[in-house]
Amino acid sequence: MITKFILIGAGVAVAIAFGLGIIIGHFAIKKTTSSTTGKYDYLTRDADQQNYQTFISSMQSTNIEANLKVTLTNGSGSIIIQTSGTEQVYDTTQPKKVNLFLAYTPNGTVSSTKLYYGNYGQLEDIQRLASIVGNASLQGSIIIMRYGKIFRGDKIMHAQYYGAVGAILYNDPIDYAPYGTSADQVYDQKWYMPPSGTQLGTTYTSNGDPLTPIYPSTEYMYRIDEEEVSAIPKIPAQAIGYSEAQVILQYLQGDNVPTYWSGTLPSVVYRYGGILRNLAKIEV
Ligand SMILES: *[C@@H]1O[C@H](CO)[C@@H](O)[C@H](O)[C@H]1NC(C)=O
Ligand SMILES: *[C@@H]1O[C@H](CO)[C@@H](O)[C@H](O)[C@H]1NC(C)=O
Ligand SMILES: *[C@@H]1O[C@H](CO)[C@@H](O)[C@H](O)[C@H]1NC(C)=O
Repeated sequence: MITKFILIGAGVAVAIAFGLGIIIGHFAIKKTTSSTTGKYDYLTRDADQQNYQTFISSMQSTNIEANLKVTLTNGSGSIIIQTSGTEQVYDTTQPKKVNLFLAYTPNGTVSSTKLYYGNYGQLEDIQRLASIVGNASLQGSIIIMRYGKIFRGDKIMHAQYYGAVGAILYNDPIDYAPYGTSADQVYDQKWYMPPSGTQLGTTYTSNGDPLTPIYPSTEYMYRIDEEEVSAIPKIPAQAIGYSEAQVILQYLQGDNVPTYWSGTLPSVVYRYGGILRNLAKIEV
């Protein structure tokens, strides 16, 4: 009988100690991440610090900012529009402005007297465009495409595949400001895309460091030549606001596109494009 009580007593003591341990452990361990992100920490740990510093110090922000514009000039060289390269700032207490930078697009300026409209930039869209205007016409052209349906990097790759030298991306109001583009229907009155707004992000169509495909980007890792990277566009591409796209699209010539290719920008007749109106030239 006494042994039984001692055993039960010991059992209770162990249970209490165990319970206390869990409680102490629970409060002693600092929770830095939620349980879902914790699982992936090993995938997202900081990059090699030395690599990172070398990379950051090699970037010239002023060079990049100067490269974020699209310019349309007419036959006499007068500027019809030069895009701002930034989004409108709504909160003037914030010193930050958003530069319209598409990561991994190459530095450089290209220009053309031919501008085409490539719908959503899906492969079948550019194929259709090519079948209508002819493959040869797309060589050396610039293609403007609307966001939506597929990844932005693939749109640029498709334009490049068909011989374009530059690409322009914008958010058409049909998908991003469905109740119209007047000030009371878009940000900051509603949550829809305002005229200067545009989608931004990477154009890299793979994962990780493009120079060390499949392998980690550590300092001593073998790196392939930049020319060998195939998952990054080789043509410059620029995102612009739809108020700017509106001016540019008005300079398109060529046949009207079918309804399912059309957007809802006011005063724009959506066309396939070709040689720009008024002998204009477009520069990206
Ligand atoms: C270009 O624009 C300027 C200024 O608006 C105008 O005087 C000129 O005639 C235009 N040239 C062409 C070819 O349209
Ligand atoms: C980017 O290209 C411009 C000319 O288009 C050139 O002046 C500039 O030095 C280049 N910047 C870099 C970082 O290569
Ligand atoms: C047009 O160009 C594409 C991409 O380069 C190619 O796959 C296709 O065969 C070409 N079509 C014609 C009719 O030349």
